[in-house]
Amino acid sequence: MTLLQAENLSIEFQTPDGVVKAVNDVSFSIGAGETVALVGESGSGKSQIALSVLGLLAGNARTSGTVTYQGKNLLEMQQNELNSIRAKEIAMIFQDPMTSLNPYMTIERQLNESLEQHEGLKGAAARKRVLEAMDAVRIPDAKNRLKAYPHEFSGGMRQRIVIAMALMCSPKLILADEPTTALDVTVQAQIMALLKEIQRESDMSVLLITHDLGVVAGACEKTLVLYAGRVMEQAGTLDLFETPSHPYTRGLLRAVPNIQDAVGDLRSIAGQPPNQMVPPPGCPFAPRCENRTEQCDRELPPLVGDIRHQRACWRPVEELV
Ligand SMILES: Nc1ncnc2c1ncn2[C@@H]1O[C@H](COP(=O)(O)OP(=O)(O)OP(=O)(O)O)[C@@H](O)[C@H]1O
Ligand SMILES: [Mg+2]
Repeated sequence: MTLLQAENLSIEFQTPDGVVKAVNDVSFSIGAGETVALVGESGSGKSQIALSVLGLLAGNARTSGTVTYQGKNLLEMQQNELNSIRAKEIAMIFQDPMTSLNPYMTIERQLNESLEQHEGLKGAAARKRVLEAMDAVRIPDAKNRLKAYPHEFSGGMRQRIVIAMALMCSPKLILADEPTTALDVTVQAQIMALLKEIQRESDMSVLLITHDLGVVAGACEKTLVLYAGRVMEQAGTLDLFETPSHPYTRGLLRAVPNIQDAVGDLRSIAGQPPNQMVPPPGCPFAPRCENRTEQCDRELPPLVGDIRHQRACWRPVEELV
């Protein structure tokens, strides 16, 4: 069953210097209990996609297309209607844990907020739920840490608190924006395992945003690879790792460290993403692509293929270097 469906989602920002085309014609769906990954470099539009779902885009943003949740287009919803969905149905884990935690408020008060707002819970009943959530994200000695402030926790623990906050009202969907980026590799793995476990228990869906394909493996059923706000390739995650079919995906995979080639073979993709105020007429990745032809510079390749594996590239897969 489809829980959330984005169709031809585009987001642009009006600025004094011109219009920034941040997200272009992006479509994807998330099923109940499913995890879908949005992967791409900094600036590729990942966060804006998540923010648009909850009506949290900046004032200078214009959207087109639809994002349907339970039969309704979230992009056209009024703020009060969105308020009843935020946190309760769809919750977000924001990119930087320190900015989503208030340094002057105890952990208990921050965790309490959405409970009070959405379920009118207070006092002992609220405290019970807060403790349950802290246990669920494995914060040790939760009872004695209710009155602690964010700075009294380590980075990994703060990220757990932010996850607990998102879980407070048992949402059906979590938008997790780089939930592990600020953490070291071991803690990253713990947090991913924790998310997976919570998800299994509650049949929750997750939109996982990351710039690191290494985080996606084993954690997500489907992956969309974004570049300059466009989907370059989308496929089942296993399929994407086994037969990456877009030069950009291949470049990202070569940039994922692995134990065998820890020394040396790691290659980053040379060059910079295009200016999204004046996007090139052809494939946005063309200027950085080893496979480009004249057609790539001239015409935008459409996203084509079997719905289970689509790619936007003019060159046949067999010819890619
Ligand atoms: N209010 C705004 N006005 C103009 N441009 C904006 C605004 N908000 C975002 N953008 C632009 O939209 C593009 C996409 O931004 P987004 O935050 O989605 O990137 P991202 O993929 O999440 O990157 P990162 O990995 O760095 O978080 C960027 O080029 C950004 O500069
Ligand atoms: Mg971001």
